[in-house]
Amino acid sequence: MEYTTLGDTGMEVSRICLGCMSFGTSDWRDWVLDEEEGKALVDRAIDLGINFFDTANMYSNGESERVLGEALEGRREEQVVATKVYHPMDEDDPNSGGLSRKTVEQELENSLDRLGMDTVDLYQIHRWDDDTPIETTMAALDDAVRRGKVRYLGASSMWAHQFADALATSDLLGLDRFVTMQNHYNLLYREEEREMLPLCRKEGVGVIPWSPLARGWLARPHEEARSTARGASDEHAHGHPYLEGGGREVNERVQELAAEKGVKMAQIGLAWLLDKDGVDAPIVGTTSIEHLEDAVEALDVKLSASDVEYLEEPYEPVRVSGHE
Ligand SMILES: NC(=O)c1ccc[n+]([C@@H]2O[C@H](COP(=O)([O-])OP(=O)(O)OC[C@H]3O[C@@H](n4cnc5c(N)ncnc54)[C@H](OP(=O)(O)O)[C@@H]3O)[C@@H](O)[C@H]2O)c1
Repeated sequence: MEYTTLGDTGMEVSRICLGCMSFGTSDWRDWVLDEEEGKALVDRAIDLGINFFDTANMYSNGESERVLGEALEGRREEQVVATKVYHPMDEDDPNSGGLSRKTVEQELENSLDRLGMDTVDLYQIHRWDDDTPIETTMAALDDAVRRGKVRYLGASSMWAHQFADALATSDLLGLDRFVTMQNHYNLLYREEEREMLPLCRKEGVGVIPWSPLARGWLARPHEEARSTARGASDEHAHGHPYLEGGGREVNERVQELAAEKGVKMAQIGLAWLLDKDGVDAPIVGTTSIEHLEDAVEALDVKLSASDVEYLEEPYEPVRVSGHE
C-alpha cells in the first residue's frame, strides 16, 4: 500500500479509500451488502493496508456507520474514519437534514453513537445548505472540533465559489477550515478540472474523489453498463452524463489500453485518477473482494504521458452533475 498526507493535515491515509455506501442493508438499495459481507470486505481492506474509510449518516439510513464501527472494533485507532451530514435522516423531522447548528450537533452525536466512537477523524458536509448561513455551519463544526468529537473538517460536492466562501469565512472568523474536498471526478466526468481542482491545489486542500469508476461505467464496456445488479438499478448512475459528449469513446479507449497492458478497465480508470496532481485517494465503492484487490493493484499500473493524452482526448464538457 502507498500512503499519502491528506491535504495539509499531516495525517497519513492509504491512497485507496474504501467507500462504505455499499455497506448496511439491501433494504436500502438492492446492491448493498448485508452486515457479515460488509465486515469481510473491511477485514480484507485492512489486510491490504487500507486505513481510510468513508461513510455517511444517510447510507442505509445509518446502518453503514453501524457496520463500519463494528468492523473496526478493537482496531479503530489505526484507521482514518470519515462520515458526513446534510441529507435528511427522517422525512418527518425537518431538522434531521441540512447544516444548521441543531442538525450538525444532533447528527454528529447520532453518527458517533452508531459508529461506537468518541471521535470521527473527518467530518464532512455532504452538500451546501442554502438555508443556513455558512458562518453558522462553520462555527458549529469548529465547536465540534474543540469538543474533541471531530479531528478534521471536510466538504463534498458544491460550486467552487461556495467552497471558496466557506474557506474564507473560517479564515476570517479564526475557525477550523475544510481540509478536504470529496468531489465527483473520474475519466468520464471532468468538470471539476475547471474551477474546483485548481482551488484545492492553491489552498492545500486534499482531494478524495467519489465514484472514481463512474459508478461502474469505467469498469466495463459501455454496452454492458447496465449488466450488473447495481448497473441495472442505480438511478444516480443513469442520471450522470457518463456516456454523453465523448464518453463512449473514452470508455472504448479504456478497454483498448487495458487489453494492451493486460490489466482491468477499472485499473486504468483508477491509475488515471491516482496520477492527477492534488488527488490524494479515490473513494472506491465495491461489493467484491476481487474488485477491492483490483483497486489496490491499480497503484502499480503506470500510464505514460501519451496514454493519458489518448484517454483524455475524446472528452467533451458535459452538464454539471453531482450537485446543483
Ligand atoms: N459525497 C458524495 O456525494 C458521494 C456520492 C457517491 C459516492 N460517494 C462515496 O464514494 C464511494 C464510491 O462510490 P461509487 O460506489 O459510486 O463508486 P465507483 O467506485 O465509481 O463505482 C462502484 C461500482 O463499480 C464497480 N466496480 C468497482 N471495482 C470494479 C472492478 N475492479 N471491476 C468491475 N467493476 C468494479 C462496482 O461493482 P462491484 O460492487 O461488483 O465491485 C460498483 O458497481 C461510496 O461508497 C461513497 O463512500 C460519495
